[in-house]
Amino acid sequence: MKLFWKVLCALLLLVEAVMGNWWNLAAPNRPVQSSNTSVETFTTLHKESCHRLEYLVERQKQLCMLSDKMVQVIQTGAQQAIDECQHQFRNSRWNCSTVDNSTDIFGGVLKFKSRESAFVHALSAAALAHTVARACSRGELNECSCDARVRKRTPRHWQWGGCSEDIRYGEKFSRDFVDAKEDKDNDEGLMNLHNNEAGRRAVRGRMQRVCKCHGMSGSCSVRVCWRRLPQLRLVGDVLSTRYEGASHVKVVERKRGKNIRKLRPLHPDIKKPNKTDLVYLEDSPDYCEPNDELGILGTRGRTCNRTSAGLDGCRLLCCGRGYQTRVRDHEEKCRCRFVWCCRVHCEICRSKRDHHVCN
Ligand SMILES: *[C@@H]1O[C@H](CO)[C@@H](O)[C@H](O)[C@H]1NC(C)=O
Ligand SMILES: *[C@@H]1O[C@H](CO)[C@@H](O)[C@H](O)[C@H]1NC(C)=O
Ligand SMILES: *[C@@H]1O[C@H](CO)[C@@H](O)[C@H](O)[C@H]1NC(C)=O
Ligand SMILES: *[C@@H]1O[C@H](CO)[C@@H](O)[C@H](O)[C@H]1NC(C)=O
Ligand SMILES: *[C@@H]1O[C@H](CO)[C@@H](O)[C@H](O)[C@H]1NC(C)=O
Repeated sequence: MKLFWKVLCALLLLVEAVMGNWWNLAAPNRPVQSSNTSVETFTTLHKESCHRLEYLVERQKQLCMLSDKMVQVIQTGAQQAIDECQHQFRNSRWNCSTVDNSTDIFGGVLKFKSRESAFVHALSAAALAHTVARACSRGELNECSCDARVRKRTPRHWQWGGCSEDIRYGEKFSRDFVDAKEDKDNDEGLMNLHNNEAGRRAVRGRMQRVCKCHGMSGSCSVRVCWRRLPQLRLVGDVLSTRYEGASHVKVVERKRGKNIRKLRPLHPDIKKPNKTDLVYLEDSPDYCEPNDELGILGTRGRTCNRTSAGLDGCRLLCCGRGYQTRVRDHEEKCRCRFVWCCRVHCEICRSKRDHHVCN
């Protein structure tokens, strides 16, 4: 009998895990029956379609329906998160690959409460805050514009002006939309909420101040400054470093009146993660061998670097299975000359290059 309930709970959790996976918006026609949909077929959504997107929870549908423009901004956020994830993981065993025939664009990989799941959650929460704030400053949304609050503080040697990008609105929207699917009363929800917030802080913490001089030619008697969002690439780099140093945690419960549930390091000798660190609850699945059910492609056929000791090195990437070396023709521009005026003339140089592929 006990087993029956365990199985039922596990099933319910699996169903629930699919909900709220808003990054599917990068390829909104899923789940797909036909094989004619891929991430590349980027369908532009309109707000009327929001209620049909089964993977969104109710609050996400409401926010999706704000306007056509808002749906498209959310969609762009999902797309950018996936692009950045694929860039950051291009040398890893799991290269953030997407699959077509699943209810989740990443297959079942994120069912594990793993480091990779921590990274994807942080990055997508960050990407949404970023795209929303960017759209605000471009005047694309009715709900927001430039950040007027920075002007209240008056600095001495320069003045606020121009359009400061409103990361606070971006964060607020991201919290409302992305966190809507999480339940802090279950372990996974607690972990995801922590990582979502860490992602948003990675954006806020890297806002830049840029200034422009005004005044008589070159005098710079007036300096006007505003706050600008960092490139999403920078945010991806920061989160990648956090991913490498992510803390393995467990949930501890303290009964003091009401239940207080917190994430604490699994090993007591490890420092407590702060709000910008990524945290995970489970070890990762094996990314070496293909697993259709989880949408893992395995590393067979991946290009590796024979001389690298890192993740892209043949030893690690090929998981000890060895690799094959093929000679490939390589073409590049060479012997470039400047031709008066104003052209650069190059020749094409052909060479043979070794190319290593995992067995
Ligand atoms: C896939 O869909 C596109 C339009 O979205 C269509 O042009 C194409 O013929 C379809 N391909 C197949 C194999 O059905
Ligand atoms: C959080 O911890 C990381 C190291 O894990 C450190 O680099 C960072 O400065 C800390 N942040 C804060 C706000 O304390
Ligand atoms: C998805 O498609 C692949 C082949 O394209 C297949 O091997 C795999 O079993 C499918 N997965 C699911 C969950 O249907
Ligand atoms: C990920 O690796 C697979 C091979 O395992 C390759 O087919 C695919 O193109 C790669 N995807 C990206 C986004 O690099
Ligand atoms: C391979 O790795 C070495 C050592 O890390 C590096 O210098 C080289 O640029 C890499 N080659 C390629 C093609 O990435």
